[in-house]
Amino acid sequence: MDHFLYKKGALHAEDVAVRNIAAEVGTPFYCYSTATLTRHYQLFTQALDPMPHLVCFAIKSLSNIAVLKVLGNLGAGMDVVSGGEYQRALAAGVSGEKIVFSGVGKTQDEMRMALLGGIRQFNVESEAELLALSQVASFLDKIAPITIRVNPDVDAKTHEKIATGKKENKFGIPINRASEVYALAASLPGIDVIGIDVHIGSQLTDLAPFEEAYFKIAELTVRLREQGHNIRRLDLGGGLGIPYEKSNLPLPLPSDYGALIKRTLGHLGCEIEIEPGRLISGNAGILVSKVIYVKEGEGQDFLILDAAMNDLVRPSMYGAHHDIIPVQEAAIGAKTRPYDIVGPVCETGDTFAKARPLTDLTAGDLVAFRSAGAYGAVMASEYNSRPLIPEVLVHGHNFAVIRPRPTLEEMIARDRMPEWLSNES
Ligand code: LLP
Repeated sequence: MDHFLYKKGALHAEDVAVRNIAAEVGTPFYCYSTATLTRHYQLFTQALDPMPHLVCFAIKSLSNIAVLKVLGNLGAGMDVVSGGEYQRALAAGVSGEKIVFSGVGKTQDEMRMALLGGIRQFNVESEAELLALSQVASFLDKIAPITIRVNPDVDAKTHEKIATGKKENKFGIPINRASEVYALAASLPGIDVIGIDVHIGSQLTDLAPFEEAYFKIAELTVRLREQGHNIRRLDLGGGLGIPYEKSNLPLPLPSDYGALIKRTLGHLGCEIEIEPGRLISGNAGILVSKVIYVKEGEGQDFLILDAAMNDLVRPSMYGAHHDIIPVQEAAIGAKTRPYDIVGPVCETGDTFAKARPLTDLTAGDLVAFRSAGAYGAVMASEYNSRPLIPEVLVHGHNFAVIRPRPTLEEMIARDRMPEWLSNES
């Protein structure tokens, strides 16, 4: 459930009419709902109660510091994968003790930053990283709390670009080498082994792969404890999918996911951590865009929008589906026709949907892409020199621009002319 609903025929974000935001901010823009973010976060904490747990929001899905602040205020931890994300979490007022550092390629600079600023744990993904972290921590006279990410060799049955739990993927250490790598970790200075980490992929629409992975983690916990490691925390990653289209329904709910965790791992007495991104932020955001032209092609009509693949890359990158709805609700029973919905970028890949049935639209009409909160704004670029689009946060009757649209001058002013060119007349 989200808070983007039609009221008297006008699409609202909570209590704000989307067209009013468009009139003030211009299009295209991203719009997020505080109530939806809050609800989704709470579904996860309720699902894990009464186990000791921390829900660490995967910042990579939506990293605006105002959004992080909403979640941080509710008690969320943060899952970060770069120094930039780490600094965003701090900037949102989240303390280091609630920040988990994931990722296959942490640099020594990033390790240093987190050790000095405070960190809940590093999720270590290789022996090389373990040695580097031991070195950095020892040099700083700090102790780095760690889990080791294991790769359970489980097929997450999701898009190949976002599956991470098969042995051929670059993530984690093979589960059958875990004993060896944990023994190495325990022998290193500056390292405190506290648990195990696993993340098998994103947009999972079935609980079976989670179940397979978590049973393996339960076995591994017992084995590592027998080998003398004090395993007390399990980080189970993110990955629970959302319904991008009605045909995806029914999907497992956070409560089903929580019950699975209790069933597979609850008896171990570990603190549970999860790192959901998409399920918290995905349906908490829409992308609002304006029709620039309706163009009649041969055999199909094109709806040319002012948003493009640089603003929302998921359809061209993964063939992802986003529902696209008119901001002014279509009349009941109004006829639809198929549109190819495209942006202005100069490549055919800049296509959001093909033959998508919509009621008649004309230039100037507004449309909204649903489920665009996760991996939308964060994956945007300035391709075709299109400035990054604004982000807006709604809270009840209020809305605020939480990232303004840069002017063309500001965008161009980031470039620098080398001296040998600037002196030329
Ligand atoms: N933890 C780790 C270690 C991750 O790699 C990810 C996502 C998450 C948590 C959060 O997963 P979520 O709950 O959001 O599924 N750009 C792609 C998705 C990439 C996901 C990368 N890792 C997309 O637009 O579908």
